Amino acid sequence: MTDRFVLEHIKALQPYEPVIPPDAVARHLNIPICKIIKLDANENPYGMPPRARWRLANLATGHIYPDPECRQLRLMLSDVINISQDNIIIGAGADELIDLVVRLTLKPGDRLMDCPPTFGFYRSVSQIHNLTHVEITRHADFSLDIDNIRAAVNQGAKAIFLANPNNPDGSVAPYELLCEILELPILVILDEAYIHFASSTIDMAKMATVRDNLIVLRTFSKWGGLAGLRLGYGIFPKYLQNALMKIKPPYNVSTAASEAGIGALESLDQLNQQRDWIIKERDRLFNALQTLDWLSPYPSQANFILCRVSGLEAVQVKNKLLEQGIMIRYFNKPGLQDHIRISIGTPSDIDRLLEALKEIKV
Ligand SMILES: Cc1ncc(COP(=O)(O)O)c(C=O)c1O
Repeated sequence: MTDRFVLEHIKALQPYEPVIPPDAVARHLNIPICKIIKLDANENPYGMPPRARWRLANLATGHIYPDPECRQLRLMLSDVINISQDNIIIGAGADELIDLVVRLTLKPGDRLMDCPPTFGFYRSVSQIHNLTHVEITRHADFSLDIDNIRAAVNQGAKAIFLANPNNPDGSVAPYELLCEILELPILVILDEAYIHFASSTIDMAKMATVRDNLIVLRTFSKWGGLAGLRLGYGIFPKYLQNALMKIKPPYNVSTAASEAGIGALESLDQLNQQRDWIIKERDRLFNALQTLDWLSPYPSQANFILCRVSGLEAVQVKNKLLEQGIMIRYFNKPGLQDHIRISIGTPSDIDRLLEALKEIKV
């Protein structure tokens, strides 16, 4: 059989590589799932928020379609983030909103920029929609290269995806630099998936309600403990919110996801407490990693730490940890050779990780 019905640009696509689920890993290693320590996808290690669990256990409306506008969740969110509901759209994860924003604003051939090393899904979406993907590589310390960003805009780039804090290094762009980029004639999609872990107090989301070229995306997957439910949201200027509502699939967010999101917002105290624990654990892990002479960790404002590995290959580190049931990410691509990324777990997860790292002979 031929693949004659598949579009040419899709045939050439390098798909985004999602993580392998822990039960599959446990089966492969022939160990019980409770022995797995999952530090590869920046999820909340403390599980689902208590009120989200309660709401899911008591869900009674799974037989009717969900609210296409997620009214109750938007109302609560509006209160929590202090932004009008009219500027908020809920999506099935930030991923869905990334895709929808591209559908809404760019056509095949248009230039879409991102700044690698960064979240790989921007590039995949760019390729899926047959855009011209422009990569403006970050400096060695992962800061943004504003001169080349400016040059790309002069050459016709129409939009830019910026993860802030950035994945995989956890750096945050200075406010002044973001403002400089916002002054360029370009749509800025600021992806704040990890903003809850950052110390910055500047609220870019507010700016998205008053500027016509800024969208801020966030998710319940990281801080919110709901990665498996798929729930994210975006703050849009009103005109983009209106337009996006026209193109989104009508029932994109399931009743379960939306109820869980409401439950998460009802569990804010617990989530904020967990965020504080994660930040404390991040600092402890950073200090401990610095004492291993074959690892060089980068300071992070997110719930993960990126490290350069010397003396052996990053994939070897990943495999040695996996033998012990510890899942991490490794990178071996241009601009990110021999790096590993470790999500912040509970204190006992991090203890086990550190023991395992100390046993690795370089
Ligand atoms: C920067 C960034 N944005 C978005 C996402 C996806 O978020 P969601 O789970 O809400 O689709 C991720 C997930 O790893 C991420 O790292």
